[in-house]
Amino acid sequence: MNPIKIAITYGGKEINDKEKELQSRTRLPIVNRAQLSADFVDGFLYYSSQGLRIELVSKINQGPLSVSFNTLEKRARDSLFGQNLIKALGINKGRRPKILDATAGFGTDSFLIACAGSEVSLFERNTIVFELLQDGLIRYSLIGAKENRIASRMRLYHMDFNDIESNNWTPDVVYLDPMFPRSSKNSLSKKPMYYMQKILSGKTDESCMFEMALKIAKKRVVVKRRANSPEISKRKVDFVYKGNSNRFDVYLI
Ligand SMILES: C[S@@+](CC[C@H](N)C(=O)[O-])C[C@H]1O[C@@H](n2cnc3c(N)ncnc32)[C@H](O)[C@@H]1O
Repeated sequence: MNPIKIAITYGGKEINDKEKELQSRTRLPIVNRAQLSADFVDGFLYYSSQGLRIELVSKINQGPLSVSFNTLEKRARDSLFGQNLIKALGINKGRRPKILDATAGFGTDSFLIACAGSEVSLFERNTIVFELLQDGLIRYSLIGAKENRIASRMRLYHMDFNDIESNNWTPDVVYLDPMFPRSSKNSLSKKPMYYMQKILSGKTDESCMFEMALKIAKKRVVVKRRANSPEISKRKVDFVYKGNSNRFDVYLI
């Protein structure tokens, strides 16, 4: 699949500092919004009062997307310690293992992990996903003291997990969610999924990630799979937390 063509747009007369910095980090072209042509780009990034947003030029109007953790707070309050993700990672009220989330995406799972009280290092290799996530994380941390505490448990790195220096990382648990979003009608109705499908290109080397995870995790590796997908490797799964559409395979070290 060809990588999606994204430009940064600015609305004012001049490019401001934030937009310049985004351009120098991402190396994406920058154009005035009034001159944006759908012939040249598939979508655009821009700063709004809701932070950094991405909008796609497409027939299906999904509206713009930004990362907002506020909308996840309810999910984090509702029986958080009863959720399969948290149980599979071995987090409970008396135990907060250090987690490494090797596939951060828009940070939903890591946010729940941080709300449960564990520290989490997040790795994201896609530049656009990384920028959106970083922006959402910074905005969330500035809301107040409670939000700042949760955000400070989340350390984000713009890196390919397979490229890490294994000696430098000693998490208790490595979490992998390498699922490529499915293009079903159902997932199209979910905006973050829709954007993921459009933004991501390139295959995820799942077995390489799994080998790296086994090398550095001190206690367990947890892999999120679709309910009926095969396991990530031939290694025997120690136990499974199964939900309706997904499951978490747990490999003890
Ligand atoms: C299914 S999404 C993860 C969703 C995430 N669990 C959440 O809660 O939002 C997978 C993400 O992993 C990233 N990814 C895939 N392989 C990676 C690798 N080797 N290193 C870092 N990130 C990777 C992709 O760019 C994508 O953003």
